Amino acid sequence: MLEKTVLLLALVTQVLTLENGLLRTPPMGWLAWERFRCNIDCDHDPKNCISERLFMEMADRLAQDGWRDLGYVYINIDDCWIGGRDAKGHLQPDPKRFPHGIAFLADYAHSLGLKLGIYEDLGKMTCMGYPGTTLDKVELDAETFAEWKIDMLKLDGCFSTAKERAHGYPKMSAALNATGRPIAFACSWPAYEGGLPPKVNYTLIANICNLWRNYDDIQDSWKSVLSILDWFVKHQDILQPAAGPGHWNDPDMLLIGNFGLSFEESRAQMALWTVLAAPLFMSTDLRTISPQNIDILQNPLVIKINQDPLGIQGRRIFKSKSQIEVFRRPLSNGASALVFFSRRTDIPYRFHSSLLELNFPESKEYEGQNVFTGDVIRGLKSETNFTVIINPSGVVMWYLYPVRTQE
Ligand code: GLA
Repeated sequence: MLEKTVLLLALVTQVLTLENGLLRTPPMGWLAWERFRCNIDCDHDPKNCISERLFMEMADRLAQDGWRDLGYVYINIDDCWIGGRDAKGHLQPDPKRFPHGIAFLADYAHSLGLKLGIYEDLGKMTCMGYPGTTLDKVELDAETFAEWKIDMLKLDGCFSTAKERAHGYPKMSAALNATGRPIAFACSWPAYEGGLPPKVNYTLIANICNLWRNYDDIQDSWKSVLSILDWFVKHQDILQPAAGPGHWNDPDMLLIGNFGLSFEESRAQMALWTVLAAPLFMSTDLRTISPQNIDILQNPLVIKINQDPLGIQGRRIFKSKSQIEVFRRPLSNGASALVFFSRRTDIPYRFHSSLLELNFPESKEYEGQNVFTGDVIRGLKSETNFTVIINPSGVVMWYLYPVRTQE
C-alpha cells in the first residue's frame, strides 16, 4: 500500500513539475517579435520578412559577432511562421517562407552552437491569426517540436479561455517532458490573467514553466519600458519570490538597437532588466546594430550579473523625492549589484547616499566596479558618504563585493 502511494506521489510530481533542469540562469538570445513583427511580405522586403533567411542571418551574426560566446545562444521564432496543418494534423511552416522546414533551421542553429526556439498559441489561433494549439493538439504539437529538435517553446494565450489555459499550460508542460527532449517552456499564461494572485498562482507557474510573461507587450518606446518597470516594482513583493534558477519572470524583450530609446535609456533598460534577473532576449537587427549598442549588450560584467548562479531577482530598495530610485540584486559570494536610476528629465543629478542608508550589512567593507565606466570602487564602508552622478533617464550601475569584516 505504502509503495503504491509513493509511486502515485512520484507520478503526480512528475506530471506537475517541470523537472527539465533547464535555464538555471535567465535565458539569453534573440527573439524576432518586437523588431520584425508579422512582416510576411517577402516579395517586397526579403531581408526583413519572417522567413528562414532572417533566422539564418541572425544565427550567423549570433555565432560570428561574439554574441554566442557571451551566452546569447537562443534564436527564437515568434508568430507568423505557420503555414497550416497536414492531413494528419501536424503543424507545417509556411512553405514559401520556410522552404526547407523547421528541422533544417534547428540543425542550422545547432551547427553554429545555438538553440532554436519556436512559438505557438494555446487556442484556436495565434495572436496574428495562424493555426493555434487547441487542447486536443497539445501532445501532437509537443511531439512535432521535439522531432524538429526545438529547444524552447513560447506558448502564447490569444483566443483561449481562462479554463482552457488552466488546463492547457500544465498539459503542454507535461507533454514537453514526455517527449524526452529538453525543451525550455516559456508561458504567457500569467499575462492573460492579469499577472497577479489570486488569479495567478506563481507557485504552480514556477513548477510548470521555465519563464513566463507577466504583463503587457513591450513596444519600441521609453514610455513602454517605464510602464513595464512600474508594474514590476509595484508588485515586486509578489513577483520577486517567484523567480529563481529554472523559473523566471519575463518583462519582455530588450529594445536596445532599435528606434525608441536614447543611449542613456538603452543602458537603463539593460541595467534594470539585469537586476530583475530577466531573460535577455534581444530583438534588433544584428546585421546593422551600432558599436555603441553592441557595447551595452555585450558588457561582460552586466552579463555576469544577469547570469549570477544564485538567481535572486532584485528589488527596488530606495526611492527619493528627487526622482532617484535605487535597485539592488543580491549576488553570489556576498556581492551585490546596485542600480541608481534617474527618472529626471533635466540635467545630470548628483545623488548623495551611503550603504548604511541603503541598508547594506553594516559590518562589511566593499569594493567593486562601476559597470559601464569600469571605474574602480574601493574602501566603501557602510557609513562612507558617496555621490553618484546620474544622467536623465539614465543609470549608474555598481558591482560590489565585501573585502573584509571591519575590526
Ligand atoms: C502576443 C505576445 C507577443 C507576440 C505576439 C505575436 O501579443 O505577447 O510577445 O508573441 O503575440 O502575435
